[in-house]
Amino acid sequence: MNAITRLATAVSLASLLPLAAHAGEVEVLHWWTSGGEKRAADTLQKLVEEKGHTWKDFAVAGGGGEAAMTVLKTRAVSGNPPAAAQIKGPDIQEWGELGLLTDLNEVATEQKWDSLLPKQVADVMKYDGDYVAVPINVHRVNWLWINPEVFAKAGATPPTTLEEFFAAADKLKAAGFIAIAHGGQPWQDGTVFEDLAFSILGADGYRKAFVEQDKATLTGAKMTEVFAALQKVRGYIDADAAGRDWNTAAGLVINGKAGMQIMGDWAKSEWTAAGKVAGQDYQCLPFPGSQGSFAYNIDSLAMFKLSNADNRKAQEDLARTIMEPEFQQFFNQNKGSIPVRLDQDMSTFDACAQASMKDFKEAAASGGLQPSLAHGMAASSYVQGAVFDVVTNFFNDPKADPARAAQQLAAAIEAVQ
Ligand code: GAL
Repeated sequence: MNAITRLATAVSLASLLPLAAHAGEVEVLHWWTSGGEKRAADTLQKLVEEKGHTWKDFAVAGGGGEAAMTVLKTRAVSGNPPAAAQIKGPDIQEWGELGLLTDLNEVATEQKWDSLLPKQVADVMKYDGDYVAVPINVHRVNWLWINPEVFAKAGATPPTTLEEFFAAADKLKAAGFIAIAHGGQPWQDGTVFEDLAFSILGADGYRKAFVEQDKATLTGAKMTEVFAALQKVRGYIDADAAGRDWNTAAGLVINGKAGMQIMGDWAKSEWTAAGKVAGQDYQCLPFPGSQGSFAYNIDSLAMFKLSNADNRKAQEDLARTIMEPEFQQFFNQNKGSIPVRLDQDMSTFDACAQASMKDFKEAAASGGLQPSLAHGMAASSYVQGAVFDVVTNFFNDPKADPARAAQQLAAAIEAVQ
């Protein structure tokens, strides 16, 4: 090696050193495995890798994340949790109580999370006053996704009320389409039930039922109406719905086999991945009758205690990356959600995301902003599971009695409190 080559080698090694000295590995548990959601997860991986770290993907398939949570518990019990895991809502408190989560206060102070985040969101991310999780986005659950071409062929009109919704479903069905693309899985049944509850009970009644778990509301006449509407929905789904994944159901609407899907805005990730344009190739409507309500579902990564300093640095960089405007834009444009930062420039977002941000802010001011029960925001996973059991059993039994189901709902919630 001559002197110049030696010098060049030394210089290039030295330039690598600052990066290499802090490069760590970050293992991230999530359930974003559908075509569209994977594209969103990939944007995070790329930005973390650009900071010099190694990304270890810990993806566990299964919409709604039930399977992922089971795997996480096993890993945590064996003393080997990942660096970060998608844990949401009140469950963050449960993991905090176990003493397994680490704090992110340094990054939070540096990036001023307290002033960037809505207070409601910041509070959920903290355990005992410390940030233990970083919020990623805000999903809205009460949406209806429509294929306008299918609607036109069936002579159906995009609905704004529940009555119009069933009228449109009748037309779609009569024209030979699947009226409502559904996947028969408990969390999807629960999502439809929740949207119907917003429509029939209103945001206030919804809050009484599922946030306060008020018995009179849970067993009231309006709740019976919610179950009756759910039973009606059953008449518009196809025979193959059982067990179908949500993204496959979205595909039926995208491909023109079905007219509409009741789903949160992660459904938009599939439309985006298929190259479809919001407001043109498809329509996003607030679920009929739930205009003014915003059922929020916030994705967040909770951070586990780590002993290796480099991995800890990678973990902090992961949190830092998530709150940066660049990530907030790329990730959310692929995921279908809106940024969690209140100061984000929305001009590059599509019509659905812009409508969602506007509705989010308005609902926050009017009381319409409520946590989604079906997506683990309103109550613990025990209450969520109890509701899913009652709802799914009811949905799968065409002869079930709506009034009885409302009683069972209250009893099931009471039993896990
Ligand atoms: C939700 C989650 C979303 C999306 C959806 C479908 O619970 O918050 O990010 O992944 O499940 O799996």
